Amino acid sequence: MESVEKELKEQIAAVKADMQNLRNIEPAKRGSEGARLNKLKTELEDKLQTFYRDREERELNAKLERDPLIDITIPDINAKHGGLHPISIIMNEVEDVFSQMGFIIEDGPEIATEFECFDSLNCPKSHPARDMQDTFWLSDGRVLRTQTSAHQNYMLKKYGPEFRAICPGRTYRNENVDATHDTTFFQVEGMMVGSDVSIANLIYFMREALTAVFKKDIKVRLRPGYFPFVEPGFELDASCPFCENGCPICKGNKWIEFCGCGMIHPKVLEMGGVDPKKYTGFAFGFGLTRLAMMRYGISDIRLFNSGNLEFLQGGVR
Ligand code: DAH
Repeated sequence: MESVEKELKEQIAAVKADMQNLRNIEPAKRGSEGARLNKLKTELEDKLQTFYRDREERELNAKLERDPLIDITIPDINAKHGGLHPISIIMNEVEDVFSQMGFIIEDGPEIATEFECFDSLNCPKSHPARDMQDTFWLSDGRVLRTQTSAHQNYMLKKYGPEFRAICPGRTYRNENVDATHDTTFFQVEGMMVGSDVSIANLIYFMREALTAVFKKDIKVRLRPGYFPFVEPGFELDASCPFCENGCPICKGNKWIEFCGCGMIHPKVLEMGGVDPKKYTGFAFGFGLTRLAMMRYGISDIRLFNSGNLEFLQGGVR
């Protein structure tokens, strides 16, 4: 104990003892003596408190001088950092590529009307193509969109008759889940509409976009394909981005099926308020989830929505 503290404590003890003795002194003096002792005791106790406070401050200052300064706002370099989901990474890349080519990035709602998801795409109730896209229906008759094409009608009405836009996003289907099918996955829809848009433009933009996404010269080829909302419709193949002479991803074919596409059906343009006699356009739709699976060599689609940390950190493929 430091001497100041010791002295003060002794003085306080002495005053307390004097207070005990008050009853032995002359009654007439008791009142004033009691008041004096009380005041003295308070003063001494205040001094002791001040001493304690000063001592604490001195110790803290000495510690700060001894130790390096601690800045609690500096991030902990050893902490584990969060990262982007593989779908987000690839979606950002695709958005960058297309926006550099003048495409607007649209964000459509995941809940669509039956009209948006099917009828406006030239796929009325009786159409057999609806069977392939069974989905989840809300009690008010709307659906969880089965395809980002559900946003086509909105884009035509909003930007028509001359625009380029893509709409990436989540899509849903009533699937039996296995390694290559899930109820929830991602697609990217693309449209270009104008007075002179042709299949040549479609081929050009797809080749440029794929070359930029895969950072490698990609060739594309078209095969006939049927989708109710395009005429003519195509399946677009890309030269395999992962090999020259055949690999497990292209199954030795040197080509991979990349997406559906075609020239927008006149009825679709019309329902979007665009005059098909004056304007034409192409549309395409590809699986972003499938692209991520190819890019990262992910063999099981169920991992994307699993929340599996090892997968998200790149450990499980
Ligand atoms: N929506 C189609 C699907 O999910 C993909 C598609 C095909 C989109 C052709 C298009 C297109 O825009 O022109 O299977």
